Amino acid sequence: MKRKRIVLLCGCMILGLVSFALAGGGEMPAAKGKAVYNFITNSSPYQQWSLFPGKGKFYKGKHPHGALLTTYVNDIALTGIKNKVGTLPVGSMIVKENYMPNKMLGAVTVMYRVDGYDPNGGDWFWAKYKADGSIAKEGKVNGCINCHAAVITNDWVFTGPVK
Ligand code: HEC
Repeated sequence: MKRKRIVLLCGCMILGLVSFALAGGGEMPAAKGKAVYNFITNSSPYQQWSLFPGKGKFYKGKHPHGALLTTYVNDIALTGIKNKVGTLPVGSMIVKENYMPNKMLGAVTVMYRVDGYDPNGGDWFWAKYKADGSIAKEGKVNGCINCHAAVITNDWVFTGPVK
């Protein structure tokens, strides 16, 4: 009897772990620079996500981001973009690598949609990390918000249509 229970318990634990992994590493992080960085580098490494639809690696960027850019989207954002939802779902993340002309990584910038985080800024959490992972900017960053407001009708996203 005891043995059966242990087998059952182990089975449940394995099932739990598998569904956790399939869900993309589990819980989404808090809207904090460190938690988000930990998420995109450890829990759900962004280099394993999809590239922004229609964009390859090292495409040419504009000021103020890098000369060359590679932009990744998590599955939540990808589904929203593909389905042309107009406003990407809560939990959407866009991670953009900003490279110098010689393909040296200069910075990583992130947009992360968090329910009720900043209604005036589209509920986007913004972050900029230096190449070494240290935080350059995070939160409701005015600079990011003011410029991205130019594409407010495309959910504050420049890189491609979301509707
Ligand atoms: C002066 C305008 C401007 C400012 C300031 C700015 N961005 Fe952007 N951002 C852009 C443009 C333009 C793109 C499209 C990519 C490109 O061509 O450079 C972009 C693209 C992005 C993307 C890819 C998703 C998208 O919207 O296309 C992210 C993520 C991003 N920016 C984050 C940030 C963060 C974080 C900050 C603040 C630290 C910031 N940006 C500040 C203009 C700006």
